[in-house]
Amino acid sequence: MSAPTMTLFHNPASPYVRKVMVLLHETGQLNRVALQNSQLSPVSPDAALNRDNPLGKIPALRLADGNVLHDSRVILDYLDHQHVGNPLIPRDGSARWRRLTLASMADGILDASVLVRYEVALRAPEKHWAEWLEAQRDKIRRALAVFEADAIAELTCHFDVAAISLACALGYLDFRHPDLNWRAANPKLAGWYAEVSQRPSMLETQPPV
Ligand code: BEZ
Repeated sequence: MSAPTMTLFHNPASPYVRKVMVLLHETGQLNRVALQNSQLSPVSPDAALNRDNPLGKIPALRLADGNVLHDSRVILDYLDHQHVGNPLIPRDGSARWRRLTLASMADGILDASVLVRYEVALRAPEKHWAEWLEAQRDKIRRALAVFEADAIAELTCHFDVAAISLACALGYLDFRHPDLNWRAANPKLAGWYAEVSQRPSMLETQPPV
């Protein structure tokens, strides 16, 4: 087995990192990447990461030539061009824009979920902004409802960028926001997730308990 040529700034709790790890599993590229643990929050930055990504966000991927890619969407696109199997991001045509839009909606669920997590976990309870929190939760509910109503068949046909992004978003809801009880309003998504969460790529990238 050849030595890794790339370094991924990694934290097992980050759903954005998980997207990258799932794609590495699915495309057989795990051995190309060394993991560099990054412990950070919006109020406790990682100095080493900041040198490679001034935004201080993970994932960031340092390539063999020293160039650094971020964010997760860019890294997924790059890695999808580095394997010989079927692309997980369609290269062109309407499929490309549709799958990327579904992936963007899943990322929007993640963005809202992580913002809620930071507000609840890092800010003093008396400073919590209840209306803002509820507006973020509403974004999550609305996007899940659209996946439930319109996208189950598309998700089922291919475990690609859209499916990976949504699976990681649902995994994060289970991890940090079980109180949202997302399965109750989305039984078809729940059935889909029950299946895809058993893929080796998902089992081996579960967030820490
Ligand atoms: C979390 O612990 O929820 C988390 C960690 C890293 C990035 C985003 C979220």
